[in-house]
Amino acid sequence: MIGFEITGSGRYLPGRPYTNDDLARVMETSDDWIRQRTGISQRHYCPEGVGVSELALPAAQRALEMAGRAPEELDYILFNTMTPDHVFPGSGPLLGAALGCPGVPALDIRTQCAAMIYSFQLASSLMSSGAAKRILIVGAEAHAGFMPWRDWDILDGADRRPSEADWERATRHRGLAILFGDGAGALVLEAKEGGGAGLLSLDVHSDGRHAHKLYIPAGFRSRPFVSQRTVDEDLMIPAMVGRDVFRTAVSRLPDSVRRACSQAQVKLENVDWFIAHQANQRINDAVRERLGVAAEKVPSNIARYGNTSAATIPILMDEMRRDGRLKAGQTVCMLALGAGLHWGAAVLRL
Ligand code: COA
Repeated sequence: MIGFEITGSGRYLPGRPYTNDDLARVMETSDDWIRQRTGISQRHYCPEGVGVSELALPAAQRALEMAGRAPEELDYILFNTMTPDHVFPGSGPLLGAALGCPGVPALDIRTQCAAMIYSFQLASSLMSSGAAKRILIVGAEAHAGFMPWRDWDILDGADRRPSEADWERATRHRGLAILFGDGAGALVLEAKEGGGAGLLSLDVHSDGRHAHKLYIPAGFRSRPFVSQRTVDEDLMIPAMVGRDVFRTAVSRLPDSVRRACSQAQVKLENVDWFIAHQANQRINDAVRERLGVAAEKVPSNIARYGNTSAATIPILMDEMRRDGRLKAGQTVCMLALGAGLHWGAAVLRL
């Protein structure tokens, strides 16, 4: 496999953070419950009328600026999202146009929270085949569109209570609603021969038998695919069997990390950072304990952003590059599990 370096990174979080207490204004929940069960304190939401291609734009521009590259120097865009601007086309071409590099191939990838593992595999393969030398990988999400309340003004401080029906509806979906936040992260990868940087190994899986444990019921099984029934029955809000997803993540991710490390011939103790998808702090703590890895090697920012799905890993990597924690020569193991189910781990040398 040809090597590559991550030459740039960027992130963008829209608007102000919304605290757990803000959410408790529209549903039956509490700051204590959310912190204890998830580790989340706040999250950001994409404003209405804005799509993920627009969230991704500043993140991508910052990544390109750090890499010292112009958009037209890119030769591939991999756009990861489960909340695209439109049902079709994908958000990749919209980002390419907004960046000012129309014509650059842009591929949307639909592996939800496991996005970065798949993107790194694809980027590495595109480089090895000679199809691309400079690739922009983006993860961006606008989950606000499926939040189970309509009273955004109450979240913003309006002095009134939701109707009883709205309160009850939001409360029915609270297990899901408290988890997700919006944002974008971007990475620029550049092919480099020699030097040893790049992907050392990858362990990646999909298992559609668990697809209905986390999915949006609405879709093209219905005619028309959006109707009054979609709204009346909340079919556009993800259905989630939270406990099952939790258990699956805690059992599959440690196995995947072990397989990826063994394939790369890297001992767990020689990994500098385990960069895990930020779904729930308790998932990452349990995975870490099962692996017997020190807490300081598993960085976390879920308290500030919640689960930004495809964006968590590039946002975290950008923070770590900018504050000096991530450095050339380090060995990093990425791990993630998401709806599909898709999951896996990748070992990288920076
Ligand atoms: N606030 C207050 N109470 C809540 C709540 C909330 N936001 N959400 C659920 N509860 C209540 C439930 O109604 C239930 O009450 P009951 O015992 O009276 O019926 C109780 O808390 C326990 O609910 P449960 O769903 O079993 O809680 P949990 O400990 O499994 O935590 C999740 C729920 C969603 C936080 C947890 O299952 C989880 O994080 N799963 C993984 C989901 C995930 O990561 N998805 C994304 C994958 S990329």
